[in-house]
Amino acid sequence: MIKNSSFFHKKLITWYLRNKRDLPWRSTRNPYFIWLSEIILQQTRVVQGIPYYEKFIKEFPKIEDLAEASEERILKLWQGLGYYSRARNLHFSAKLVAFEYGGIFPTSYKELLNLKGVGDYTASAIASFCYDEVTAVVDGNVYRVLARYFGIDTPINSTKGMQEFKLLAQQLIDSAQPGTYNQAIMEFGATHCLPQNPDCTSCIFNDSCVALSTKMVGLLPVKLKKAKVRKRFFNYIVVRSLDHHTVLQQRTSKGIWRQLFEFPLIESDADMDILELVKDDTYAQLAAELQLESLSLFNEKVIIHKLSHQHLHTRFWIAEAKDISVARAHLDLERIPIEGLHNYAVPVLIENFISEFSVFKI
Ligand code: ADE
Repeated sequence: MIKNSSFFHKKLITWYLRNKRDLPWRSTRNPYFIWLSEIILQQTRVVQGIPYYEKFIKEFPKIEDLAEASEERILKLWQGLGYYSRARNLHFSAKLVAFEYGGIFPTSYKELLNLKGVGDYTASAIASFCYDEVTAVVDGNVYRVLARYFGIDTPINSTKGMQEFKLLAQQLIDSAQPGTYNQAIMEFGATHCLPQNPDCTSCIFNDSCVALSTKMVGLLPVKLKKAKVRKRFFNYIVVRSLDHHTVLQQRTSKGIWRQLFEFPLIESDADMDILELVKDDTYAQLAAELQLESLSLFNEKVIIHKLSHQHLHTRFWIAEAKDISVARAHLDLERIPIEGLHNYAVPVLIENFISEFSVFKI
């Protein structure tokens, strides 16, 4: 048992009760709402997540509503949050709870782990916030607070580190109020013990923090370097016909953006110029199919869209055509009116293009 665990959690909870932000999911213990908020917040900052949380609970006030929604609708509402597998898992798990568990949300850490997209962190959060189960959360904020306070330099993304921090967090939790303790440590990491330049002079722990007394604040937590990012080169062919139609394709392959829509894509091994593009087989097939008449580059400066493990070097090309009503099924193209583009779930990269390209503005 950690020597000063009650000193630590008492101080932290006192700080939390005075300083916590008023967040919409903090006024409920409904496990469906809590689950929704935690999935949204998995790779998203709180300020960005709030409007999505509100949209989802308004449109789907019960888990059955979410279960019965179409995947397209869910992806559309999710648009802009990225990491779309979260939305698909959300839908999958909503169906499981609504149709297999009779609408009863799992009530323990162990059972919560059966939901797709729910791992150790999310199961601990839901179990402690909704059911007072004594199970400690460890997210990025918690790693930082614990690594600094206890002066731990085990890499947080190593197996050993994950086990060590989970064990420590479990020893520090206030078993009388585990949900409040978990919220408190996350909130402290999110708003006070910041990654860069935390204000240690005003910190409640500045007389007992190991990192502060050993000048290690800026060096902790330790994280192992990620694998190299993969560079990809994307050329989007944005077709525009005289009667204001364009074409989209739906991604079906595994990997990024499955089931989202995008303009016809030509991927290459390096940046392509116009001469190389017109010689490309996929482009030639598309041009013949739709009788494309002209091609021009939209963005002189390549757009580098960064995903967690990939950098997408992207060029948008505008291709004019007289009439594209001949768009044939074997290319899997969907011919749609330009003003209807906003009805399709698209990746942020495409969404940004649409709002920038004034003719496409809705
Ligand atoms: N980040 C992840 N979960 C959170 C929560 N419940 N409150 C605030 N920030 C969070």
